[in-house]
Amino acid sequence: MAGIFAGKVVLVTGGGSGMGKSSAQRFAEEGGRVAVVDLNLEAAQAVVEAIRAAGGEALAVRADIASQADNDRMVAETIGQFGGLDAAFLNAAYLGPVLDFFETDAKTFDLIVGINLRGCFFGMQATARAMRPGGPVVVNASTAALAANQYSAVYTATKHGVLGLVRAAAEPFAERKLRINAICPGFIQTPMNGMADSVAPIAPELLEQPGFCGLGQPQHIAELALFLASARAAFVSGGAYLADGGLMANIPSVRF
Ligand SMILES: NC(=O)c1ccc[n+]([C@@H]2O[C@H](COP(=O)([O-])OP(=O)(O)OC[C@H]3O[C@@H](n4cnc5c(N)ncnc54)[C@H](O)[C@@H]3O)[C@@H](O)[C@H]2O)c1
Repeated sequence: MAGIFAGKVVLVTGGGSGMGKSSAQRFAEEGGRVAVVDLNLEAAQAVVEAIRAAGGEALAVRADIASQADNDRMVAETIGQFGGLDAAFLNAAYLGPVLDFFETDAKTFDLIVGINLRGCFFGMQATARAMRPGGPVVVNASTAALAANQYSAVYTATKHGVLGLVRAAAEPFAERKLRINAICPGFIQTPMNGMADSVAPIAPELLEQPGFCGLGQPQHIAELALFLASARAAFVSGGAYLADGGLMANIPSVRF
């Protein structure tokens, strides 16, 4: 297919749902050959089928990003199928249960850190080691990388950590002629928030009129991921970019 990713191989983690699904579909619409990676293989396969039905090329890969070996394997399977790797969107993460700060136990802490922080780190290593020069890695962080929610303290800490990893990676990535950036979405309509997944493509009127600070659509984030992964962002690296409908610009108005 023609488009800004024509002939490029793109890997998307968490590609079976929400922002990963929308991004996988948009990369494919722009000509990318997409590895849809997810813990949930059925979900990844459904996205691959939708991409193929629309005339695109895609491959489903089951991987648990908390595992270093799975990160290496998802890259190996992608290269085995498509012959290389040009871009990656490391998007998968786990919100975890809503928990009181003092009641969060070690098992929950390790699970969330394992997926969100460890998974992101080994995903960055695995994709960068295999990526062709010029390649971009985009990481899905969150507004929780910049401010906290007491009921998701560990998730908040991992998303702060993800920005640290992106900043730390900028220079070693540049030495390999690679770029890395993070996206910080606000509230997005996805199953992670207990909402029904949206169906791509989004109607243009819905995409163009998000409410201020309101609920965004997965495709709002997909469009930013595509920009950061494209040659148009060739001088953009080590940064974190909000896509939150103005949420973080606003201090709640209080009248004393
Ligand atoms: N939804 C929001 O409001 C919101 C806001 C800010 C940031 N984010 C971030 O955006 C990203 C995507 O979130 P979403 O809302 O689209 O979520 P989602 O729940 O719709 O999709 C997440 C996908 O990741 C997969 N996944 C979970 N754990 C995995 C693992 N260990 N290995 C591989 N795949 C795994 C799930 O199976 C699922 O398909 C996440 O990094 C999330 O933290 C979400």
